[in-house]
Amino acid sequence: MSDFTSNFWSVYVAALTVIGIVACLVLLWMAGRKKVISTSDNTTGHVWDEDLVEMNNPLPRWWVWLFVITVVFGLAYLAAYPGLGAFAGKLGWSQQAAYDAEVAKAKAELEPLYARFASMKPEDLARDPQAMAIGERLYMNNCAQCHGSDARGSKGFPNLTDKDWLHGGAPEKIRETLEKGRVGNMPPMAAAVGTPEDVRNVAHYVLSLSGSPHDSLRASLGKPKFAACAACHGADGKGMTAMGAPNLTDDIWLHGWGEAAIAAIVTNGKVNEMPAQAEKLTEAQIGVLTSYVWGLSNKAGAAR
Ligand code: HEC
Ligand code: HEC
Repeated sequence: MSDFTSNFWSVYVAALTVIGIVACLVLLWMAGRKKVISTSDNTTGHVWDEDLVEMNNPLPRWWVWLFVITVVFGLAYLAAYPGLGAFAGKLGWSQQAAYDAEVAKAKAELEPLYARFASMKPEDLARDPQAMAIGERLYMNNCAQCHGSDARGSKGFPNLTDKDWLHGGAPEKIRETLEKGRVGNMPPMAAAVGTPEDVRNVAHYVLSLSGSPHDSLRASLGKPKFAACAACHGADGKGMTAMGAPNLTDDIWLHGWGEAAIAAIVTNGKVNEMPAQAEKLTEAQIGVLTSYVWGLSNKAGAAR
């Protein structure tokens, strides 16, 4: 494989390289033959500061030999390894092949490890320090940008260290979340609720569910309107993992707390996506991550 756009550049670069090496040899040969004006006392005849003279000594032998060896080494190297234009070198070495070999080696080393992990129950895997060390690396590289390096999430990105789950916290549910991704879809509900006043009232009712500060008169007016929400959040507001609908009674807010934030989500709705990982990560890696995430909220059962 060549990175040159045309054969001309390959020849051009190869020719420059060879000419450069040959020029070095010619320089050495010429320097050896050239006679500088020789005075009887082996000086060049230049005198500075009254008595400072320049001797005309030959190059030290060891230096000359080192120079020659360098040139020979350069030629041998160019014959063996890629360097002369597009010429691949006699040994057939390439960066790509070296990289592929390293990847294959790492894979071969990890395979028995992952095979051992695959035979373990997710809860047991969470207690395996080696698996959890790998899980932490995978988490930092693939998940931390959204869920935070401490996995506590931020607005819109769920906290993975608590027991509050949108889609379920059992290992098989977490695995499903990772493999297929999730789309949380809260539709705009203003029309179903009624007037903007009704929306404010239902917001106060939602706040009352978690015992958050609220206006109790508005909450009682909003309560019947919550019927429109029950299909997803449940009649008691405790949420439904099958719908990805959050528990509204626990004072944990993914999209912000207070009347204004709740009125906004009821009015505008919200689509929130967890990207599927099945294309990006191997099944074995997803298995390790499942146990890692499960372990974050089940500290007693996990190696840390
Ligand atoms: C591009 C941002 C993004 C990345 C990257 C990402 N997530 Fe998520 N994740 C989200 C969002 C947003 C949600 C919430 C989806 C919803 O609202 O239903 C979520 C939800 C989840 C949930 C479900 C939480 C619950 O309460 O049910 C888990 C578990 C999860 N992510 C784990 C991971 C892991 C592990 C990784 C790394 C492999 C990862 N996420 C990478 C954005 C991301
Ligand atoms: C079709 C199902 C559905 C209906 C109906 C629905 N919701 Fe939701 N709601 C959701 C989902 C799903 C989410 C989570 C969005 C996400 O994944 O980020 C959500 C999120 C919320 C949140 C944000 C919670 C937080 O932690 O920040 C509030 C508040 C809320 N809904 C209130 C309501 C109210 C009030 C109603 C009725 C007027 C309602 N929802 C109707 C599905 C629904």
